[in-house]
Amino acid sequence: MISIRQPARFYIGLCLAMLMPFHSTSDAAGQPRSLGSTYKSDFLIGMAMDFTSNELTPTELELIKSNFNVVTPENSMKPDSVHPAEGRWTWGNADKLVQFCQENKIQIIGHTLVWHGQTGKWFFKGENGQPVSRDVAIERLKEHIHTEVGRYKGKIKGWDVVNEAINDKPNGDSENLRNNGWLEAIGLDYINLAFKFAHEVDPNAELYYNDYNIEKGDKHKSSMLLLKRLVKEGVPIAAVGIQGHWGLNNLPYDELDAAIADYKSLGLKVNISEMDVVITGQGGGQLTPAGGAASAHERDSRRGARTPPTAQQLKQQADAYATFFKIFQKHKDVIERVTLWGLSDARTWRPGQAPLLFDAQNSPKPAFAAVIAAKQP
Ligand code: G3I
Repeated sequence: MISIRQPARFYIGLCLAMLMPFHSTSDAAGQPRSLGSTYKSDFLIGMAMDFTSNELTPTELELIKSNFNVVTPENSMKPDSVHPAEGRWTWGNADKLVQFCQENKIQIIGHTLVWHGQTGKWFFKGENGQPVSRDVAIERLKEHIHTEVGRYKGKIKGWDVVNEAINDKPNGDSENLRNNGWLEAIGLDYINLAFKFAHEVDPNAELYYNDYNIEKGDKHKSSMLLLKRLVKEGVPIAAVGIQGHWGLNNLPYDELDAAIADYKSLGLKVNISEMDVVITGQGGGQLTPAGGAASAHERDSRRGARTPPTAQQLKQQADAYATFFKIFQKHKDVIERVTLWGLSDARTWRPGQAPLLFDAQNSPKPAFAAVIAAKQP
């Protein structure tokens, strides 16, 4: 049932949003209010969104336009969104996102070309359902990348070419590559080939390797081995994306600080590509065993089951965001972009865990103010 307070909150949110145009750098008290303009001299500030049947409201669109200067499609450019079957391409939602960004002078990150998630099994099946041969798999990889990168050539700042190729089960003595369909069908060089195919179509787009939990422990060691090899082999990789799915029970400040320096030592830039900080429950970027985010049913029951965050939790989250943004600024020579994974606590893949800077009614949370206040002179 709709609470009687919702229309009022919506109206206040809308007024607030309208008072915060992207180019306005200060509020009545002289404080900067837009995330993008606050960090303009340091790095881009992005968010993840899509145009789906779950339409963004005018308030949400205004918040996006006023705060973010780069957008990542959360799902609409993934393989099963644009290429659900051999020879079948469905561009509707991705095209809408590109058009919106172009109309509003917002840059775009392509996400993602090669992944174990949201990728049709058809890519790896040959005739009679048998595993595909290496040659056919390479041909399919090439066609997929050439077609998608080619369609948006010149419109995409950079592509998450390969996503989450490293196993969660720790083994820091090796690259520890995840046994996904591409590795099985092609072998170790599927990563090299993916970057090569993307580069030959749009040589001006930056190309990224993107993963979660790579800032610490064995997964960091594996990422260093992998990236070192790719750089040595001349793979056209510009940056590594540290996804940044963190939580109040997982705040790896020191590890992150050191990891950014490690990647810099390889000659790479760094993107914080999918940041959120959950207040309750687990963080991390891993999918469910079924290969997705929580089901709609799980999401709804979580939403109902969770009580709103306490003031103390909101303060802890605000402190965490502020600390992360101070680390990002320390490394602004290599950090190109910080992207939040969603818009608000209503538009997140972690519903019920309140991970973002705007609450479910689109009002700025204490973490929003803390990020603005964390800006160093
Ligand atoms: O599109 C269908 C819709 O037709 C259906 O009615 C509905 C029923 O639940 O599901 C919809 O698909 C969902 C899809 O998001 C689009 O909303 C899937 O169930 C759901 O699993 C999927 O979750 C996405 C997840 O990746 C799964 O791959 C999240 O939105 C997205 O935020 C998340 O993003 C990933 C990054 O791409 C890579 N890094 C980790 C990050 C979090 O897993």
